[in-house]
Amino acid sequence: MKKLFIETLGCAMNMRDSEHMIAELNRRDSYELTQAVDEADLIIINTCSVREKPVAKLFSEIGVFNKKKKEGAKIGVCGCTASHLGEEIIKRAPSVSFVLGARNVSKINEIIDKKHAVEVSTDYDESEYDFAEYRSNPYKALVNISIGCDKQCTFCIVPATRGEEVSIPSELLVREISKAVEGGAREVMLLGQNVNNYGRRFSADEESCNFTQLLQKVSRIEGLERIRFTSPHPLHMDDAFLEEFASNPKICKQIHIPLQSGSTEILKAMKRGYTQEWFLDRCARVRALVPEATISTDIIVGFPGESDADFEETMRVLEAVRFEQLFSFKYSPRPHTTAATHTNQVDPAVASERLSRLQARHTEILDEVMDAQLGRVHKVYFDELKPNGRIAGRSDDGKLVFAEGSESLLGKIVDVKITKTSRGALDGIVL
Ligand code: SAH
Ligand code: F3S
Repeated sequence: MKKLFIETLGCAMNMRDSEHMIAELNRRDSYELTQAVDEADLIIINTCSVREKPVAKLFSEIGVFNKKKKEGAKIGVCGCTASHLGEEIIKRAPSVSFVLGARNVSKINEIIDKKHAVEVSTDYDESEYDFAEYRSNPYKALVNISIGCDKQCTFCIVPATRGEEVSIPSELLVREISKAVEGGAREVMLLGQNVNNYGRRFSADEESCNFTQLLQKVSRIEGLERIRFTSPHPLHMDDAFLEEFASNPKICKQIHIPLQSGSTEILKAMKRGYTQEWFLDRCARVRALVPEATISTDIIVGFPGESDADFEETMRVLEAVRFEQLFSFKYSPRPHTTAATHTNQVDPAVASERLSRLQARHTEILDEVMDAQLGRVHKVYFDELKPNGRIAGRSDDGKLVFAEGSESLLGKIVDVKITKTSRGALDGIVL
């Protein structure tokens, strides 16, 4: 049996792409996963290129892996950085055997034996490709519902690396999810760069099906109890979608609403397609329809042209919505994006200061949110064994919960009373 070391960086779609590659490789040869680079016959780095830092790290990592790897072992670079750097990766690091783009995952067996093969076309359509099965966690199924992204947010490299958006036919999705449910999954995470744009374009003959209708179809799958999805776009959060989110008992009450900036002017420069008012209105609608729902968001500070006043607008939205979870980033200029060519770049020191202020205020909000959980009872779906007789899972509203417990609780949804809180997680006892 061959050994495979695979490192996955970036988003949940990359995690699913890694599962797809593992499954495809196993269709041909048998691979055993290893955590030790020096034991591996095949080393794969599944990269992210959304910000600059991980790209810079990639080449130093290739160097380290090349020194450690055993004689004859291959190194493959996959994912978004593979897509946007392509051949340049092999020119800079000839120890890399192959380069496979984020849009070409299904071709892994085709290129693995070719020396210095590069497959990074973003026109390639694998929306109907029947991937072999592999799930790193049998209790929780990750499922891609669309590939690519049709938006052109001016800061974002993803449309250049993942290509045009194509939805996967709903029938295939229902079949894939049903199979995962048979294998023990009671929860599914529907994935896409812009999930609620689902159904705008299919390459197959598909009856029309939008995201709200897809949620309804998926929720009819027997044995499936929880549905999550990421990431939706605020612009496509129409009333029908939010009402489905609120009323469908299988949909977990956790929603990611990526803000990016609170300033309508900056949102316009980002080409996000919505205003601060629209964003606040959508969040207010969620809070009104589902008071127990948690809202998470992504915020970028220091986008070109962001003034102090623009940043204050972002702080204003933070106060108004009180996001339960925040992913915040300093703007990073990316190739293939128009924002990188703007001449009004923000001083990095100013951006860092804004990021610290934003995060410090969010931490205070988070402390209040988490402290309020003490004594509450959450329905927790346990999906992971931890050392020392402990188990971990998620509450319906997406909080990480730990408890004492054994394997017998895995795959079960049980009531847990919260006895201890911290910023990142809750601790409780199984009732
Ligand atoms: N459609 C995806 C976006 C993927 S990128 C989603 O909604 O999740 C994930 C996040 O990275 C974005 O929401 C954005 O906040 C951040 N990001 C993207 N490009 C960036 C850049 N150039 N600099 C800093 N952060 C960026
Ligand atoms: Fe990027 Fe905007 Fe699409 S953030 S992934 S271009 S929705």
